[in-house]
Amino acid sequence: MARPQVYVTRRIPAAALEIIAAGCDYRLWDSDQAPVPREELVAALAAADGALVMLSDRVDGALLDAAPRCRVIANMAVGYDNIDLPACTARGVLVTNTPGVLTETTADLTLALMLAAARRVVEGQKLIESGGWTGWHPMFMTGVDVHGATLGIVGAGRIGSAVARRARGFGMRILYYNRRPNPALEQEVGAVYCGMDELLQAADFVSVLVPLSVETRGLIGDRELALMKPTAVLVNTARGPIVDEQALYAALRDRRIYAAGLDVFAREPIPADHPLLSLPNCICVPHVGSATVATRTRMATLAAENLCAALAGRRPPTPLNPEVLEGGS
Ligand code: DGY
Repeated sequence: MARPQVYVTRRIPAAALEIIAAGCDYRLWDSDQAPVPREELVAALAAADGALVMLSDRVDGALLDAAPRCRVIANMAVGYDNIDLPACTARGVLVTNTPGVLTETTADLTLALMLAAARRVVEGQKLIESGGWTGWHPMFMTGVDVHGATLGIVGAGRIGSAVARRARGFGMRILYYNRRPNPALEQEVGAVYCGMDELLQAADFVSVLVPLSVETRGLIGDRELALMKPTAVLVNTARGPIVDEQALYAALRDRRIYAAGLDVFAREPIPADHPLLSLPNCICVPHVGSATVATRTRMATLAAENLCAALAGRRPPTPLNPEVLEGGS
């Protein structure tokens, strides 16, 4: 039988390519830099049985219509807002993502941004670099405390729960807002389920961890920022469009909230002259929540396993639309 033909839209760790090569012939967009251009992706998928894609690749009905052989899309990310899932399901295309393997690493970065924003870590480094450090004085570079503060987690799924566990170590009180209560989290860390407004009003730190969807786009806007304390810190390690960037810029500039730590942006990559970068109380990092060697390798190998299992007619480890497997699309 002919080996399946697959397309991989970025250079990925060798361990993942070896998994693919064991069962498939693959072509690769061999780049660490720019994503595969749309025309190139369309052309490559025209003859492919499946693809391993990144969060920067848009997979929609138009792409699938130009890819009649394609049976599986394996996303190398847990978030899948880059993929039109109903369009895939309607065409019988199985979609997979990479949940679980990046939970702890993304929670680590969430805490890093909370701590860095609260304690003005980046501002301090820039001050030293500019030669502006004149010495210790009593209220020099004072920030806000993380230990003992109240953390509000918006979206208490896997990563939110991992953030809550870390926050317990800092003696934080934990509030959370979720589609439905998470009794396991309440029991484990004493987290308290509350409404969104209540959370925003009470939290010293607000950690945004919901997936991007029609419901969550713009979830944190002017109104929500106005509910937050002037001493509060907002951290977004989920997806940029969940927070209204213009509203956030104004709130930070006018000191209506204390600081923000952002790993994600409405449009990525952001340019060097992005307004948020001009604010001393806004820490921005380039979508690196899951960026450790070990975790990115696990994400790539899980995506490769998903791709190969589906093409071999086996149930992949982490399908998003398993109804396609049952032929119920
Ligand atoms: C994901 O997996 O959705 C992350 O954003 C990638 O690090």
